[in-house]
Amino acid sequence: MGSYYYPEQWDSCQWERDLKKISEMGIRFTHFGEFAWGMLEPEEGSYNFGWLDRAVALAEKYGLKVIMCTPTPTPPVWLSKNYPDILIQRDNGIKIQHGRRQHASWSSDRYRGYVKDIVSRLAERYGNNPTVIGWQIDNEPGHYGMVDYSENAQEKFRAWLRNKYGTVEELNKTWGNTFWSESYQDFDQIRLPNQQELPEKPNPHAMLDLNRFMADELAGFINMQADILRQHISKEQWVTTNLIPIFNPVDPVRMSHLDFTTYTKYLVTGHKMGVGNQGFRLGNPEDIGFANDQFRNFVGKTYGVMELQPGQVNWGIYNPQPMPGAVRMWVYHVFAGGGRFVCNYRFRQPLKGSEQYHYGMVMTDGVSLSPGGEEYVQIAGELKKLREAYNPKNKMPKLLSARQTAMLFDMNNYWETEFQKQTDQWSTMSHVNKYYNVLKEFAVPLDIITEKDDFSAYPFLIAPAFQLLDSALVERWTKYVKDGGHLVLTCRTGQKDRNAKLWEAPLAAPIHQLAGIDNLFYDHMPRSLYGHIVFGGKEYNWNNWADVVTPMPETDVWATYDDQFYKGAACVIHRKLGKGTVTYIGADTDDGKLEKEVLHRVYEEAGVPTEDLPYGVVKEWRDGFYIVLNYTSDVQQIVIPDKAEIIIGSARLKPTGVVIWKE
Ligand code: GAL
Repeated sequence: MGSYYYPEQWDSCQWERDLKKISEMGIRFTHFGEFAWGMLEPEEGSYNFGWLDRAVALAEKYGLKVIMCTPTPTPPVWLSKNYPDILIQRDNGIKIQHGRRQHASWSSDRYRGYVKDIVSRLAERYGNNPTVIGWQIDNEPGHYGMVDYSENAQEKFRAWLRNKYGTVEELNKTWGNTFWSESYQDFDQIRLPNQQELPEKPNPHAMLDLNRFMADELAGFINMQADILRQHISKEQWVTTNLIPIFNPVDPVRMSHLDFTTYTKYLVTGHKMGVGNQGFRLGNPEDIGFANDQFRNFVGKTYGVMELQPGQVNWGIYNPQPMPGAVRMWVYHVFAGGGRFVCNYRFRQPLKGSEQYHYGMVMTDGVSLSPGGEEYVQIAGELKKLREAYNPKNKMPKLLSARQTAMLFDMNNYWETEFQKQTDQWSTMSHVNKYYNVLKEFAVPLDIITEKDDFSAYPFLIAPAFQLLDSALVERWTKYVKDGGHLVLTCRTGQKDRNAKLWEAPLAAPIHQLAGIDNLFYDHMPRSLYGHIVFGGKEYNWNNWADVVTPMPETDVWATYDDQFYKGAACVIHRKLGKGTVTYIGADTDDGKLEKEVLHRVYEEAGVPTEDLPYGVVKEWRDGFYIVLNYTSDVQQIVIPDKAEIIIGSARLKPTGVVIWKE
């Protein structure tokens, strides 16, 4: 466990007291410097590392390791003022000014030059310091979702397009530019698609390319810093960054020069209602869950959590107190997912500046522990018990490995389906999370993977709304099924090629053979009206999305639409192929009940038993430990086998409760 500390924000006579306290709490590392460029290089070319040297030495004195950061989200004022071309620009043409963070353009070569300088100097200075265990590049890189429309970005976008398409004719063809006379004669005529410059929504292919370009620019900036660091640092130190999960323009898949990725998570911010009437104090279980299952599968095949909420925050829609115990439960959730570390943001509550009301490990006096701080102390004690009980030889029990499931997720589909929702009721992540949550209720070990990964290790594979694909992927899916895999595809899958062009063939043609589809169209309903589906003699409602399917003759029909002009048409179909099966679920419902029953039947027919946990009870297996968490607002009685050895907690789980056992 770690805790953020900002020496530059506190009187230097307090550093020793604070770092000593962090160490005494049982916390093992701290985190320095991600916003400190202004203090490290107060004037161009004049550096001041003395204060940071002293902070690192104090950390060492108290046995704390340090994650050192590159300070590139916050260029010093001289840099922004002397070279304003390094700043990003809004869609309305306004240049973002110095004063906050994430305001420098990754597309500015000048900025990259200054970054290279400061990062090299930091790496030279701390790259062989044994107290420094690793490096965080930047901080939540992503411009907080803003598209950069600066001239630097425009120029880089054109270069990116040139590189992708080679000729402008090829670009015109892919973007469909004869439509509305959009055709270009030269790459130099192209600008980043910008709603402010256009009377209508931009061209969808241009938008997909914009998202890809931004993700590449960001990843390029991160990878560049990783390369610079590696020129100077020892092999013992690792390199990572801290990312906001599922957030434009972040695509961690592209950040391949890192050793591993980490994420940041704030669950109680007034945005989510959670489970039950106290859920707003607990957070949604899929917030940490999805990020765990995804980040574990990025580069390096491991992850840490760089920021976790220590208590109340200052920036929510409203800022409730987390329920006592929630901070501890979140830490155990990261542990349950296989995370290697958790760092809380932050040790001290700021007294001035932007985050005044943000809790830390200690309260405003700087010394009394906050409720979250107390919970970290408790965990530090409990981890000793877990360490004693840990046996590295533990293998996943057969019952669980038989259920192992992979979910295929790709930001390209997210960008495309979010931009072209087709109905205002479509939400890509609600669709994906519906399946995610059902699988968690079944207590299946779940990995969220990409096409770079091997599917064959997983008995079950689900690809929700996998809209963009090519024949190579369909061939891989087909082989996976023929070899015995159980594949689940959902609505919108396979409708377009990788550049978002519809096929010159029936809708979703490439998956027809595989899924046993003869023909398919989609339908939507108004928010206020529900269509009905019959499955297994029971009725279900839908109004978000319906793929209406005519199956091939040998395909089983599991569910049919029960009204509208296509009453009796197939909604869910299933077929055997080789040693495996393919199931196609055409509807996206509000409550996910249909999806749950269909998935249940898939596992049942495959002869694989699953559990039926209530939504909000999270059960995971890690390294020989079963971990169950209670995100619901009610007490939950957990079934624990008699032979189990309980290490932490008990079967009666109050909200925020954690129980850990070995079998
Ligand atoms: C994070 C950010 C931190 C801090 C925190 C406050 O998103 O990376 O620097 O601002 O939010 O909750």
